[in-house]
This record gives sequence, structure tokens and C-alpha cells, in this order.
Amino acid sequence: MTEEKKEMDLMVLLEEKRVFKPSEEFVKQTNVKKWMDEHNIKDYDELLKKSGDNPEQFWDERAKDLSSLNGYSKVMEWNPPYVKWFVGAKYNIVNDALDRHVTDGKKDKIAYIFEGEHGDVRKLTYNDLYIEVNKLANALKNLGVKKGDRISIYLPMIPELPIAMLACAKIGAIHSVVFSGFSALAFRNRVNDCESKIVITCDGFYRKGKIVDLKKQADEALENAPTVENVIVYKRTGNEVGWNEKDHWWHEIVKDMPETCETEKIDANDPLYILYTSGTTGKPKGIMHAHGGYSVGTASTLNWVFDLKENDVWWCAADIGWVTGHSYIVYGPLILGVTSVMYEGAPDYPAPDRWWSIVEKYKVSVLYTSPTAIRLFMRHGEEWVEKHDLSSLRLLGSVGEPINPEAWMWYYKYIGREKCQIMDTWWQTETGSFVISPLPITPLKPGSATKPLPGFRAEVYNEGGNPILNAGGNLVLLNPWPGMLRGLYKAPDKYMETYWKKFPDTYLAGDVARKDDDGYFWVQGRADDVLNVSGHRIGNSEVESALVSHPKTAEAAVIGKPHKVKGESLIAFVVLKEGIEPNDELRIELRDHVGKEIGKIARPDEIWFVNDVPKTRSGKIMRRVIRAKAIGAPVGDISTLANPESVEEIGRAK
Ligand code: WTA
Repeated sequence: MTEEKKEMDLMVLLEEKRVFKPSEEFVKQTNVKKWMDEHNIKDYDELLKKSGDNPEQFWDERAKDLSSLNGYSKVMEWNPPYVKWFVGAKYNIVNDALDRHVTDGKKDKIAYIFEGEHGDVRKLTYNDLYIEVNKLANALKNLGVKKGDRISIYLPMIPELPIAMLACAKIGAIHSVVFSGFSALAFRNRVNDCESKIVITCDGFYRKGKIVDLKKQADEALENAPTVENVIVYKRTGNEVGWNEKDHWWHEIVKDMPETCETEKIDANDPLYILYTSGTTGKPKGIMHAHGGYSVGTASTLNWVFDLKENDVWWCAADIGWVTGHSYIVYGPLILGVTSVMYEGAPDYPAPDRWWSIVEKYKVSVLYTSPTAIRLFMRHGEEWVEKHDLSSLRLLGSVGEPINPEAWMWYYKYIGREKCQIMDTWWQTETGSFVISPLPITPLKPGSATKPLPGFRAEVYNEGGNPILNAGGNLVLLNPWPGMLRGLYKAPDKYMETYWKKFPDTYLAGDVARKDDDGYFWVQGRADDVLNVSGHRIGNSEVESALVSHPKTAEAAVIGKPHKVKGESLIAFVVLKEGIEPNDELRIELRDHVGKEIGKIARPDEIWFVNDVPKTRSGKIMRRVIRAKAIGAPVGDISTLANPESVEEIGRAK
């Protein structure tokens, strides 16, 4: 038995037996049911069957919801491992996400209701957004930005973030948004990897009542970023900032710009953005998405899964720095022309009912968040929820990590008041859109993301590449889909190796899942050396590299341990260099060092000093053995290790 297989067998998820069905009344009014009626499809099973039998035809049909994606000669061209969608179409996602709304009656509709952490509110209509985007796009052109140029965006959750993304897309430039919680060094690495010409950032933002000085971090990053020619700085907080020759205030460069700007028509398969995500090596991967397929993928899944209609108020409470925000705060909702809520700050600031006050105030009707956030609110207690009128909510969603049935039930009972179905959406930065997820008509089993959406085909494979039932295995996707990544930026070999090598022409998700007798999927977690901390993907080796870059560290092994709120917490085992004394100050120093190298989210919760870490004879650190020992699970056969005695030490350290 391989180590991997053993690990999978260990992961047995507690299964909730109850099934939650939507009411008939509710089902009748859903977008998906209307579509089924129009297409003479009688039920959910038939919908899955028909779309699964002929995905191309299905997606062709779904593309009709967009007004400007046309003129393609082929729906899909599949040259494994690369796919092109809507081949030959000249297109730009901004036409559908923004331009068309100014003439289709949505001009004065609110696109974003923004609430800052200290209570400031801005409401931007589609027309306001259109003007702001055009002005910035013109300013970018003035700075010499051309189609295909990369622009790194380092902004917090303020409306200028979507504005900057859309301005890039409008002129055919490729944006690379870097989460504002990443450190200066992590930002620098991402800027240099894609050789950005421009950086867009701001002076600072509010988090837990304090100003985070983002400009200072950007400046530090740009000390060594030779490709960057200009830096655009938005004034958010007005705090004092350092100033360099390349810097321009956002408000100054857009001041005299025209309010219109032509949207560049480009190939539907040209890149829209790069988004870096953690992989199994120390270096993050640049996931690439294109204009055409991605727009169909995001808009169509959002329309059906969250059933968004004209009067809905949608709140995807993720950060735009991650794919969830790209797809479901920016592109998907804008294409559908809905009103979204956007909140800048911490969920429990100034008190644990901040989110519920926002739901009540703006009458949010559909809320989409992560299990970590739900568990955080659970810990604070339902009394904070009960202070508010949440009757506007009609549907709920979850993303980013497996939702344990206990959190699911709490979400259902206290937030959904036993009236809202919960859409547990499984997907990845790579997939661009939801893949395995219920529709609002799907009977739910708490803790299961249910089945692949129409047009997608997923399976659970054993190591031999055969489908298996009722046992943990490799989650794979069998046919290409519109939001599928176009590859990894400048890393074609890694693309092949990571996703397509294990099973030919089949996409390997990197997750362990189980499929039950009803065809429901239970995603259990990562199969590879990637951790999921609070729904954020962090590579074990990324944190290890950060730790060993400290002058006092010789070696490090990082594992994830189950955590009540965060899903997983980071535990590091560190071997110090000869003569260095282990002590608590050094623990703090190392934690801060990781914070500087990557960002606060990657700082280990526990650091243990050991003399050695378990390794194979070829020198590979055996994280699985370390993890098993640290969480008290059976370690299995360790006779092949070069240093079996180190396992005992891990146990003692714990
Ligand atoms: C995990 C986030 C269980 C999974 C959209 C995946 C989930 C990784 C779920 C992708 C879910 C995401 N249930 N696990 N509903 N959603 N995951 O790229 O391990 O940041 O591979 O995309 O999160 O994380 P990423």
C-alpha cells in the first residue's frame, strides 16, 4: 500500500444522514427550473444526464446568456491538456460585465454597496463603475500599457479593486491580483514572476480598527522589481506615505481622462488574468484564465446555483485577492447585472455581529461564505446573530474547505432560520467556477457538495485510475469545462505534471473525495502537500522554504493539524543550526519571519524544535509520518526511513 493510499483510508468523514429538500414552492421559482421547463427537462436527474451526455451543446446553449459572445466557429477545441472555448470569437468580458449594462436599462442600478470597516458607505451604480473604469483604462493607456502587458494589483477590499481589474481587462492587459494580506516579499515574487509593467496599490486600509500601511509594503517589494515602470496609488486612508519617482496618485492621473474608452476586442481565448496559488513546491503557480470560457463559466454557474434575480442583494464575503472574489464578486455578478455587497474589514469588528448588521441593513438575500467564518461565528454564539433581522436571506453558500456537518447545521439553523438551502460549492482557482455543487433544487446532505453541476463530469478514481464508490480516492474531472485554466504562466511542464500526468487526459484535482451510493461527493481535503488554513491554500513547502531562509534554521517540516475554527492549523518542526539555542524568543522570531516572507496567514501556530525530522533514504522529508505522529494516528511502517528514531522525537515534542 502506498503512503498516499494509507492516508486516504485514515480520512473517514463523519456522515450526516439527514436529507434536506427544498420546498416545491421555492423550486418553482428558481432560474434553473425555468430553464428546464423551457427545454422540456423534467427533473434534476434528467438535467444532469442530458448536459453530461453532450456538454458542448449544453455550454453552447448557456453562452447565449451573454450578449456579445458570438461569431465562434467551434464551441470547444480540446487538445489535451489545453482547451479553447468559443474558438474564433472576438470578445472581451468587459462588454458583458459592464458596457452592456449602461445601455440595457441597468445604468442606474447599484453594482456595489461598499461598507468600509469604520462604517463609511459608498454606492456605485453600473454607470459610476463604467465611468471609473474608463477613466482608469485611459490613464493606463497613457502610461503606455498595451494588450498582453501584465499589471499587478495589490489592493484591499475597496471598489477600486474591481475597477482596476476591469480597466486592465478593457484594454486587453492581464491583471495579476495579489491578496493584500500577502507580505512585501510574496508580492515582489509575484510581480517579478509575471514581469509586471505597472503596479496598482493604495496608501493603506482599515483592519481591526488599525490602518495597514500597504504602500510601505509595496515600496519594499518594488525595491527589487526591475520591470515595473509606474506605480498607481489610490488614496484610501490619507495616512502619510513615502513617495518615489515612479509613483502617481490615482486621483491625479484619472482627473482629466475621458469618460469613455473603447473596449478592446480580443480573441476569446486570450488571457484575462493570472492568479497565483500555492502548489506543492515552494514557488506559487500562476493560474491563467481567458476571457471567453471564463465568462460563461462564472456567470452561468452563479445564475443557477445562487439563483440570482433582478432584486437580489448578493454578498460573497470572500476577498477579491482569491479566486472566489475574482469569479463571484467581480466577473460573475457583474455579468449578471446584480447588486453586490462589499465589505472592507474584519468579520468580528467592532463586534461579532458586524456581518449580521450588514445583512440586515442592506437586506442581503443571498450570502456566500466559508466554513471557517461560520465556525468563527459559531464560537461567538448565536446571541450575536439573534440581535438582527435576517429575514431577507433566502439562500446560503459555502466554499473553500469541507464544511463539517456541525457547522452546516448551525449555519442552516441560525443564519438560514431553517428556511434557506445551503449551496456547498466545490471548486478551485484552476476550475474558475463551481464544479461540484448543488443547485437550489437539489436535495442536500450536510457536509456533501452533492453532485457535479450540469455540463461537468467528475469521478473518484483509485490509484489504478478506476472509478470507486464508498472509499476515499482521487477526485478527477473527466471533460474540459469553460472556466478551465488555460495553463500555468510560463510553466507548461509543471502544468502537465501537476494535473494531467497521473491519469491521461483526465484532470487531477489534488483532493481526496468519496462518492456515495447516491452519487454524492464528499470532498475530504487535499491529497497533496498543500494545506487549507481558513480556506486559504498554503503549500507545506512554501512555509518550509520561508523557515529555512532564516539564518538560524537548518531544516523544517510543516504539517497541518485539524483545528476547530480554521479547519487546519500549521505546525512546524524545526531543526536549528549547530550551536543555536532553542527558546521562546526564537519561536516568535521564526513566526514573524514567515509573516514577512509570505504573510500573516502562513505563520505557524506551533513551532517545535527537534534534532532531526523523519526522512527517506533519499532525503525526502516524510510529512505524512510526522503528521500521523503529531495527531496521534498510526504512523505505519517506518522501516524504510533513514532515521526512524526521529519519529519518537516528534511524538515527544508534541
Ligand atoms: C478546497 C477556492 C471541500 C479543496 C474556491 C480545493 C473545498 C481547494 C471546497 C481550492 C468545498 C474548495 N468542499 N473542499 N466546497 N471548496 N475546497 O484554489 O481542497 O483557493 O482543492 O479555490 O479548496 O482552493 P482555491
